[in-house]
Amino acid sequence: MANKGKVKVGIIGSQFEADIHAASFQIMPEEAEVVAVSSPTPGHPEELARKYGIPRVFHDYREMLKEKDIEMVTITAPNRLHAPMTIDTARAGKHVVCEKPLCMTLEEADQMIDTCKQQGLHLFYAEELFFTPKYVKAKEMADQGAFGKVYLVKQSEKHFGPHAPWFWDVEQSGGGVLMDMGCHGIAFCYWFLNRSSIKSVYCQMGTYAHGDRTRGEDNSICILEFENGAVGLVEDSWARRGGMDDCIEVYGNGGVTYADLHMGNALPTYSESGYGYAVEKAPTTQGWTYPVFEELWNYGFPQEMRHFARCVRGKEEPIATGEVGRLVQEVLCAAYQSARLGCKVRLPFRPQRVKKPIDLWWAAPAGQ
Ligand SMILES: NC(=O)c1ccc[n+]([C@@H]2O[C@H](COP(=O)([O-])OP(=O)(O)OC[C@H]3O[C@@H](n4cnc5c(N)ncnc54)[C@H](O)[C@@H]3O)[C@@H](O)[C@H]2O)c1
Repeated sequence: MANKGKVKVGIIGSQFEADIHAASFQIMPEEAEVVAVSSPTPGHPEELARKYGIPRVFHDYREMLKEKDIEMVTITAPNRLHAPMTIDTARAGKHVVCEKPLCMTLEEADQMIDTCKQQGLHLFYAEELFFTPKYVKAKEMADQGAFGKVYLVKQSEKHFGPHAPWFWDVEQSGGGVLMDMGCHGIAFCYWFLNRSSIKSVYCQMGTYAHGDRTRGEDNSICILEFENGAVGLVEDSWARRGGMDDCIEVYGNGGVTYADLHMGNALPTYSESGYGYAVEKAPTTQGWTYPVFEELWNYGFPQEMRHFARCVRGKEEPIATGEVGRLVQEVLCAAYQSARLGCKVRLPFRPQRVKKPIDLWWAAPAGQ
């Protein structure tokens, strides 16, 4: 395999997040190029390949893994497939970018990390909030002391529910909105607070709007206590109308900052007829809407993919690793357990014989 020039990338999956990855590599093309895409549905990978000029198409990702020149593979398949795909990819000798959440169980997380380590390969955890320009600015200011001692960091992500059916099926997703979007907030607070250890987790959740289509929770509130004395508050919803909402708030004894990822980058717009596209998950473009521009850049996806490619070439040290994904997985498990028990759950937390995090919300805890 080449160790200079652009990193050659293969993408597993061809729909929502695969499109974001392909577009992101195209927006920042200096470090990497997508040379292959694999997805089982006839016509789908072909369509992505046409859209982004990707030369090779596969319907079985194992066939794509045989391509010698591919150095890094990004995994954008449903959550239950992350672990087997990561392990197959690492065994084929390729670096892995795994989408969030890392996997379904802590056993899987350990196996993913161990396999990549044994092969001498990177396991990157695709948390784009570490690269979101507005949030990076907030962290830079916090690190410069702008807010004094930070005691509370909030992150929330809300919309009216995901785009693909598998998210609603907890056997494939592992849980509802906490699993899907709470993983962002947990990682964000941990990163923002300079990776202070997490001491405990308290979580409340319920299914308020979509009980007819999922057994998963569609609203969750999660409080994290950090070793350094700060608190993280992670709020997520699939029950919130009106398109995507993604915000942070940072409070310290010397200052405060608020960042709304979409509104600050939007054009308050009124249209009788509607127009092409406003923002992710917006149900309409008629009436008052808030279209964003450079959406992927504002999220940080191109910067994230560029960073991973530079790590492969040894130009940067990874900041979003499998270990971060594992910690998030542990906190997710503790949060589901807390929602069941109605009290704080302390870390480290290692549930036994659990197939997916949401089982801890439904099942009686050990000893009960
Ligand atoms: N970082 C983010 O903000 C973000 C946003 C959306 C999704 N995601 C994550 O990305 C992953 C994919 O989500 P999505 O929204 O793209 O879902 P999606 O349903 O739009 O696409 C899933 C893709 O996986 C493919 N797939 C299914 N089974 C496969 C198999 N056996 N082999 C190869 N490909 C297979 C499907 O054909 C499809 O192309 C999820 O883990 C999700 O949590 C992350």
